[in-house]
Amino acid sequence: MRAYQVDSADGIDAIKQVELATPTPGDNEILVKMKACSLNYRDLLIPLGGYVRNDVRPIVPLSDGAGEIVQVGKNVTKFQPGDRVIGNFFQHWESGKIEDKGLNSAMGGSIDGVLSEYFILQEDCTIKIPEHLTYEEASTLPCAATTAWHALEEVGNIQPGDTILLLGTGGVSIFGLQLAKAKGATVIITSSSEEKLKRAAEMGADHTINYKTTPDWEEQVLALTDGKGVDNVLEVGGAGTFEKSVASAKVNGTVSVIGILTGLESPTISLMTIFNLLKIQGVYVGSTSMLQDLCDFMVEKKITPVIDQQFDFANSIDAYNHMASAKHFGKIVISNP
Ligand SMILES: NC(=O)c1ccc[n+]([C@@H]2O[C@H](COP(=O)([O-])OP(=O)(O)OC[C@H]3O[C@@H](n4cnc5c(N)ncnc54)[C@H](OP(=O)(O)O)[C@@H]3O)[C@@H](O)[C@H]2O)c1
Repeated sequence: MRAYQVDSADGIDAIKQVELATPTPGDNEILVKMKACSLNYRDLLIPLGGYVRNDVRPIVPLSDGAGEIVQVGKNVTKFQPGDRVIGNFFQHWESGKIEDKGLNSAMGGSIDGVLSEYFILQEDCTIKIPEHLTYEEASTLPCAATTAWHALEEVGNIQPGDTILLLGTGGVSIFGLQLAKAKGATVIITSSSEEKLKRAAEMGADHTINYKTTPDWEEQVLALTDGKGVDNVLEVGGAGTFEKSVASAKVNGTVSVIGILTGLESPTISLMTIFNLLKIQGVYVGSTSMLQDLCDFMVEKKITPVIDQQFDFANSIDAYNHMASAKHFGKIVISNP
C-alpha cells in the first residue's frame, strides 16, 4: 500500500512517500481503508522532532483518519466490514482518566498514524461516523474537535450564558466556536485577519478582536465582559498569549491550556491566577467516550465541520504546506476516495 513516513527531524520536505505491506488486524483490531484524513498543527511539529513523547521513527504521520472497514479481527463484535469509522486520537484511552498505555498510543506520534491507504484501529477506541457527515468531515473530529469538546464540556462544564474566549481561527478554535454557540454560550474570538473575523461573526461569534491591531486584546475582553472576564479560555497560543488569557478569565474561571502556536517560553506567573482562584487545566485531546459524546452532540445539533481546503492523497505535502502558511480557516483535509 502507499503511505507516507516521517523518518527524520528535517521538516515537511523530508516526509517520504513509501510502499509498505498492508497491515493485518490482530484479534481485537480492525483494518480500515482510508477515505480521508485531516491535519492538525502538531503534524507540522512532529517532522521537526517536536510534540512527541516517544520519538518513534520511521512513523506514518497524522492522527485523524476516516474510512471504511475492510477486515476485522476474530474477537471483534462491534463492527463489521463496510462500517464507516473514525479512530480516537489515543488508541488506548477508552474513558475515565488516561494512563501510561493511553499516553503512549497517540496516532501519528507514538504509533503509526493514518496517512496511508490502510490503517489499523483498536476496536474499543473506534466509533462509527455520524450519518450526516462525509468521510472528509468526519476525518476532522479525532484531534481538534475532541480537544475543543474536552476543554469546553469536561474541563469547563459549559453552561448556556457562559462566555468563552477563543484564540485565532484554526481547527481547535473554529470547533470551539461551533460547539460553544450550540451550547448557548457567548463567544469572543480573536484573529490576525479581518476577513477571518468576518467569517467567524457570520458563524455566530458575538464579539471579534483583531489581535494584531489590538495587541492588548485582554483589555478588550474585559471591556466586553463588564470588567468581569470570561468563563473559559481555549488557550492555544502559549508564549505571549498565556498571560493575556489568564488576565481574560473571570473569578473562578478556567484557562484550558491546549496549544503552543507561539512557542514554549515560560510565562510569568500572574497573581491573578491566585486572586481569581483560576483553574489552569492542561488538555490533551480526549478519550474515546469524549469523541463519542462529541459526535452525539454534533448529530443532535446538526453541526458540520468547516473544511478550508481539500487535497488529494498524492499531494499530501501540499496540504502540509498550506497548513504551515496559516492561511486556513478551520480544517485542512486529504482525500483518498
Ligand atoms: N493539547 C491538545 O490536545 C491539542 C489538540 C489540538 C491542537 N493543539 C494545539 O493547539 C494549537 C492550535 O492547533 P490547531 O490544529 O487548531 O492549529 P491551526 O489550525 O494550525 O491554527 C492556526 C491558527 O492559529 C492562530 N494563531 C497563531 N498565532 C496566534 C496568536 N498569537 N494568537 C491567536 N491566534 C493565533 C492563527 O489564526 P488567525 O489566522 O485567525 O490569526 C492561525 O491561523 C497548536 O499549538 C496545537 O499544537 C493541542
